[in-house]
Amino acid sequence: MYKTHTCGALRPEHIGQTVTLAGWVNTRRDQGGLTFIDLRDRWGVTQVVLNREVSPEAHAAASHVRNEYVLRIGGLVRARLAGKENPKLATGAVELEAATLEVLNAAKVLPFTINEELPVDENVRLKYRYLDLRRERMRYNLDLRYRMLKFIRDYLHGQHFMEVETPILFKTTPEGARDYLVPSRVHPGEFYALPQSPQQLKQLLMVAGVERYFQIARCFRDEDQRGDRQPEFTQLDLEMSFITREDILQLIEGMFTQLVETLVPHKRLLFKPWPRLTYAEAMARFGKDNPDLRFGLELKDVSDLAPQTGFKVFADTVARGGHVRGLNAKGLGGYTRKQVDELTEYVKTYGAKGLAYIAVEPNGQYKSTFAKFLPADVLAQLLARLEAEPGDLLLFVADQPAVVSEALGRLRVELADRLKLRDDSVLAFCWVIDFPYVNWSEADQRWDPSHHLFTAPMPEDEPLLDSDPGRARGQQYDLVLNNYEVGGGSIRIHRRDLQEKVFKLIGLDFDVAQERFGHMLEAFEFGVPPHGGIAPGIDRLAMILAGEPNIREVIAFPKNQAAMDVMAGAPSPAEPKQLADLHIAVLAAPAVPAPNPTAAAGE
Ligand code: AMO
Ligand code: AMP
Repeated sequence: MYKTHTCGALRPEHIGQTVTLAGWVNTRRDQGGLTFIDLRDRWGVTQVVLNREVSPEAHAAASHVRNEYVLRIGGLVRARLAGKENPKLATGAVELEAATLEVLNAAKVLPFTINEELPVDENVRLKYRYLDLRRERMRYNLDLRYRMLKFIRDYLHGQHFMEVETPILFKTTPEGARDYLVPSRVHPGEFYALPQSPQQLKQLLMVAGVERYFQIARCFRDEDQRGDRQPEFTQLDLEMSFITREDILQLIEGMFTQLVETLVPHKRLLFKPWPRLTYAEAMARFGKDNPDLRFGLELKDVSDLAPQTGFKVFADTVARGGHVRGLNAKGLGGYTRKQVDELTEYVKTYGAKGLAYIAVEPNGQYKSTFAKFLPADVLAQLLARLEAEPGDLLLFVADQPAVVSEALGRLRVELADRLKLRDDSVLAFCWVIDFPYVNWSEADQRWDPSHHLFTAPMPEDEPLLDSDPGRARGQQYDLVLNNYEVGGGSIRIHRRDLQEKVFKLIGLDFDVAQERFGHMLEAFEFGVPPHGGIAPGIDRLAMILAGEPNIREVIAFPKNQAAMDVMAGAPSPAEPKQLADLHIAVLAAPAVPAPNPTAAAGE
């Protein structure tokens, strides 16, 4: 046996026992005749004392030891000296008096510190990810993620779900991103596509009679990287037959409520039950379909008052079918001109043409971009609508509804950050429902599915697919948590005629639809149960529960922001022989030599 106990196990009841520990040197302190080593493993840290008087060999061996050496130490558990206990450490009442010390492996000087949180360039962390993962914060994140997955598996097992694996080498399963393609050696010129999600496969499992399926599924999407996106990521993919939307929402709400209360009891669930917002309501009140409900600062429509404000920008915008909405930046009435200009620049990056304001001064006076022509009664109505009090700053954007939503929706979150209203210890889940079924794409001059092409329209809106598709609502629902979309799903189409109609609506040519999705259409003719499902994103959920700023922190080996694995060096050029076997000719060589991301960090 390498070790009799873990480094987190020893307690006063072990005093007097002879034990063996093995792990990494977290710290080492040399005090002449006494050397102290904090030995660390996955479960904790134990203080080891090496006393020259007690064991000269072990004491001498310890003199060569450095941080992160791997040691095996045998000795006697004893109480720490009175006053030397460490209440912060689970093992802090005891220490190990070493009799033997064996160096199992040495360690070079490390590229960064493991035993405390110091700022390190992220690419250096990613290059040495195996060292980065030794840090307590990362150990916690990995462990939390593991416990989440275990909780989910246990919970769904209790609800009679079956976990089924689906292929990674498949055919395009689009979710709106580019596919990753894998060339076939045995079929020259042909490619597999990595699934963007197991969407079609889980529906086919419903046709197969599985009824309750889930999978901790890896998905692949070639899209621009962001803090909440990775080229490959993990979904809890789930599908059920003979259910309604209500069944899915209840299942997920019940499971995640219990998960959060069990795994992160130090966080506070703001709502129980979770609120449900229609898409229209979310856009009107928060300007986003992934609203952060931890704070107020809601948007208020003042379009009806615009013509009477005497402000030409407002009046003209509304006359042209636009909107004027505002929000009350509570307590920011003292903002300087420069600070308001900053906010104006901020909304301009999201398409707004400007930002009009009314600052209500503590003495009840006000300053405003459009004060000059503003009649007193209209001012009073604006103040009332935005529930303004002395000291508040009211901010308005006039534009097309989508632009107003985008600009004010972003501004609302920015202001909440400035006002420190986004409390990481609070979890505000909500559902967003009743999405528009399709969105008009100006770029492609066609209707795009707002979720994906297998989502069913609301039954009562089905006739609108012919007459006025833009007004039809889909049976789609999004799971939202603290400003992030953490899941999406829908009730599916299970009739061939409706599926064909939707393909046609979104401009999918019959032959193309047949080539890409013929297997789905065919399956729809062999007894398909009504079905629906959802796919919460595990990485985003773990990120929020861990209180991390991006999903890379909760993925063991993530890609960096340039979609590269800087540890192994991927992607990388292939051998000419491999390419020949795959019948591939590369047209463009890499433009620049593969960058060495750690060079800049002075290595
Ligand atoms: P959707 O495309 O909405 O739905 O994805 C579901 C959830 O997956 C997460 N997610 C991502 N996480 C990290 N990196 C990414 N690049 C990324 N893309 C998506 C999000 C998102 O809410 N098949 C459907 C689900 C269904 O209809 O059942 C689907 O994939 O948290
Ligand atoms: P301008 O008439 O462009 O000089 O703008 C006068 C003021 O109105 C400035 O403070 C602008 O930021 C603001 N403003 C301009 N256009 C808009 C708009 N569409 N919505 C809100 N405020 C605007």
